[in-house]
Amino acid sequence: MTLAVMALYATGTTRLTGIASWRVKETDRIAAMAAELRKLGAGVVEGDDFIEISPPRVWRAATIETYDDHRMAMCLSLAAFNPLAGARPAQPLRILDPRCVAKTFPDYFEALFDLVRADVDDLPVITIDGPSASGKGTLAAALARRLGWQFLDSGAVYRATALAAHRARVSLDDEPGLAAVAANLDLHFDGTRILLNGEDVATELRQESTGAAASRVSGWPAVRGALHALQLSFRRVPGLVADGRDMGTVVFPLAPLKVFLTASAAERAQRRHKQLISKGIQASIADLRTDIEARDARDQSRVTAPLKAAEDALRLDNSALGIDESVDMCWVGGGSATRWTRVRPAEAPA
Ligand code: DC
Repeated sequence: MTLAVMALYATGTTRLTGIASWRVKETDRIAAMAAELRKLGAGVVEGDDFIEISPPRVWRAATIETYDDHRMAMCLSLAAFNPLAGARPAQPLRILDPRCVAKTFPDYFEALFDLVRADVDDLPVITIDGPSASGKGTLAAALARRLGWQFLDSGAVYRATALAAHRARVSLDDEPGLAAVAANLDLHFDGTRILLNGEDVATELRQESTGAAASRVSGWPAVRGALHALQLSFRRVPGLVADGRDMGTVVFPLAPLKVFLTASAAERAQRRHKQLISKGIQASIADLRTDIEARDARDQSRVTAPLKAAEDALRLDNSALGIDESVDMCWVGGGSATRWTRVRPAEAPA
């Protein structure tokens, strides 16, 4: 099967024979291989026990089905090297359900990405910005999981800065002191764990008091500057979903897909309340709403990188949507057009 994909890089036609057994494996691998290679632009002839492949004259971008077959995912991933066969521009390849490699090689894609070098400007970024408790973090994490991309929770970066400052007894009014804390942040994300100086602080970071301190810390331009490079470093293969307040406006202004997620303050207070109650923390909905509105006002009015939608963002009000529905809206690239609105209306009909 690897040879069938390597045939894309040959100068002539490749014929693999004596492969009848391919038809009775995890899937009918001759039919599956033929269908997927054709998507890339290859010429394919298939028979009961052979497959014949002529390399694409013109490479096409493709979304590859994997048929719950680990070998389909691994072999077809090699088509991503199409520039080596002359594809100009490089044609992007999407492997659906990449986790099917778990059967034999769970870390296959991580191992592959360790081998390749990519120009960071070529790596796709999806930004999801919005106010507190709009659900952007949940949406961004779910989208990153579904895509198999890296995930940046920039709110957690500001929260960790606030926590580190608190521990170092640096005042929230001391801009240079806070910037020094930010510049020396020893922060690592490891699945659901968030390690600050090697200690898991994920629970502490989620506390309302940490969020309120983060909101103040994030108002200082020197702190934002000190955290800029750290946030950019999350842009790694195969792509990044970044959530926060200024992902689309300041940190990744050239991201090809920017989402601005909103929900009414009343709905956001309800969600936060449900979240806290589920963790056994008592809270009043009215107080939460007051806090959320105060945080919105502070985030929107600060001088540096205020919370606002990028001009080329798509706005999604998810007050009445569940998380899966919101992910689907991003996944299919549009969903119900009535729920997406452009931040800046197009000047002329496209
Ligand atoms: O998204 P969150 O609630 O975890 O964010 C905590 C605070 O950090 C929030 O009040 C605003 C600030 N923040 C920011 O200024 N810019 C970001 N990109 C992310 C968060």
